Amino acid sequence: MKLFVGYASKEGQSRKIARHIADFAFDTGHSVELQAVADDSGVELSRFDAVILAAPIHTGHYPKPFAQFVSVHADTLNTAQARFVSVSLAAAGHDAEDWRSLEHIADDFKQATGWSPTDTKHVAGAYMPSRYDILTRFIMRRIVSQKDPEANLGEDKEYTDWGDLNAWINSWLNP
Ligand SMILES: Cc1cc2nc3c(=O)[nH]c(=O)nc-3n(C[C@H](O)[C@H](O)[C@H](O)COP(=O)(O)O)c2cc1C
Repeated sequence: MKLFVGYASKEGQSRKIARHIADFAFDTGHSVELQAVADDSGVELSRFDAVILAAPIHTGHYPKPFAQFVSVHADTLNTAQARFVSVSLAAAGHDAEDWRSLEHIADDFKQATGWSPTDTKHVAGAYMPSRYDILTRFIMRRIVSQKDPEANLGEDKEYTDWGDLNAWINSWLNP
C-alpha cells in the first residue's frame, strides 16, 4: 500500500507519533511518504492508497494551518481511506467529561473543514515543560498536577500508548 502520513505539531509529540506510524508501515512492507502539512502544502493526495493525518489539540483546537490544509483537501480526503489521529492530554485519562470534550472538538473540526475521516483515533500526547514558555509552563503544571498527581512536574512525561497505537495501525494496514 502507498501511504501518506501528514502531521502538524507544536511541541513535537504529534511529529513523533506520525514518524512512528510511518516507520511501522515501512517496516511492514508499505511505501510511505511523511510530511508536515500546512495550508500551503501542495501534496497530491490522490496518488496514495491511504492517508493518515495527525495533529494535536491546543486549547480546544487543532492548529489553524492544519485545519486549512484539511479544508483545501477535504474532497479528496472524503473519497480516500483517510484516518485522523487526534493527539491530546485528555486522551491520557478516563475522565468521561474530558472524552466528551474530545468528541466535541473532533466533531467541530469535521464541521469546520468538511472532512469526515474513515476513523478517528484519540491518542495520548505528552507533557513537555522543557518546551513551554513561562506562562504555558505555569498553566500546564496546574492542569497536569490535577490530572496526574504522580507526575514530576519539572520533567517531560510521555503518555502515548505505543502498543495500543501499533495494534490500531496493524488492524487496518495489515488486516
Ligand atoms: C498550550 C497548550 C494547550 C493545550 N490544550 C489542550 C486541550 O485543550 N486539551 C487537551 O486534551 N490537551 C491539551 N494540550 C496537550 C497537548 O495536546 C499535548 O501536550 C500534545 O502532546 C501536544 O502535541 P504536540 O507536541 O504535537 O504539539 C495542550 C498543551 C498545551 C501546551
